Amino acid sequence: MILAVSALKGGPGKTTFAVNVAAGLALKIGGRTPRPRVLLVDLDPQAHAAYWALGKSRGDPLPRVEEDLSAHLLGSARGSPLDIIHPAAFPESGNLDVVLTRPQGMAQAERVLTSDLAEGIYALEEYLEPLRGAYAVIVVDTPPSAGAMTLNALVAADAVLIPMELTKMGVDGLRETLAVVEKIRRRHNPEMRIVGIAPNRCDFRRSETNDIYRFMRQQYKDLVLLPVAERAQVAYASSLRRDIFTHLGSTQDQAVVEMRRVVEAVAQRLGLR
Ligand SMILES: Nc1ncnc2c1ncn2[C@@H]1O[C@H](COP(=O)(O)OP(=O)(O)OP(=O)(O)O)[C@@H](O)[C@H]1O
Ligand SMILES: [Mg+2]
Repeated sequence: MILAVSALKGGPGKTTFAVNVAAGLALKIGGRTPRPRVLLVDLDPQAHAAYWALGKSRGDPLPRVEEDLSAHLLGSARGSPLDIIHPAAFPESGNLDVVLTRPQGMAQAERVLTSDLAEGIYALEEYLEPLRGAYAVIVVDTPPSAGAMTLNALVAADAVLIPMELTKMGVDGLRETLAVVEKIRRRHNPEMRIVGIAPNRCDFRRSETNDIYRFMRQQYKDLVLLPVAERAQVAYASSLRRDIFTHLGSTQDQAVVEMRRVVEAVAQRLGLR
């Protein structure tokens, strides 16, 4: 099962959801025989999700390997797809894996794939094909544009999770995202489904937020997941290079409660157990 986390807008929480949902699913479905059952892939050349999941900050050395995902996407890799997979720094139970990506390589891969998009759109699907059987779910973070990397994710995905902010710009961004999802579905991937639209960074003290949430529920019904508010702990966990569940343990902190609801909804809708 491949789950893309996508939105054609900067900053609604793609990376936050990709990392926390991957970690939450890893905690939920566990398993290490012979390997974890959840894999995280970062397609954004900024590589925020990959650094975060590896427990690294920018400037820290990454694991020493000759190749990263970009070599596999460009068909120049000599090693196997498994060679670039590392254990994530969290959860502590060690049941999340992450694909190694490096910003430079991924930026170059994006340029090359864009130059021949008719072929280049299938690069991720081909890389992930042999890994599908090894993991229960593969979570893919994407950049905020409809460029080659996002299109690759949507072509490979069985399902997509779309984070959004409950603002007018958020609604515009959602519409654009849905249009691209629809186009990819029509042309390349009719089986792909939307697992949920995830309202994030919500401030329900504002009337606009409440109005837009009501509108969204009317318009998109059950596709709209329960919201995650703007919570300092969500951002703080990421600055500590941890997922929210590892950061706050089994507390009943609202950030944990809200993020867990998203994880549960995704697991249920994808039939993961
Ligand atoms: N619920 C939240 N509460 C507080 N801060 C949040 C929340 N969700 C995300 N953030 C913060 O908002 C910023 C943007 O989030 P994130 O990087 O996940 O968005 P993105 O959609 O991946 O952005 P980009 O388009 O740049 O890839 C980050 O600093 C993140 O820590
Ligand atoms: Mg991001």
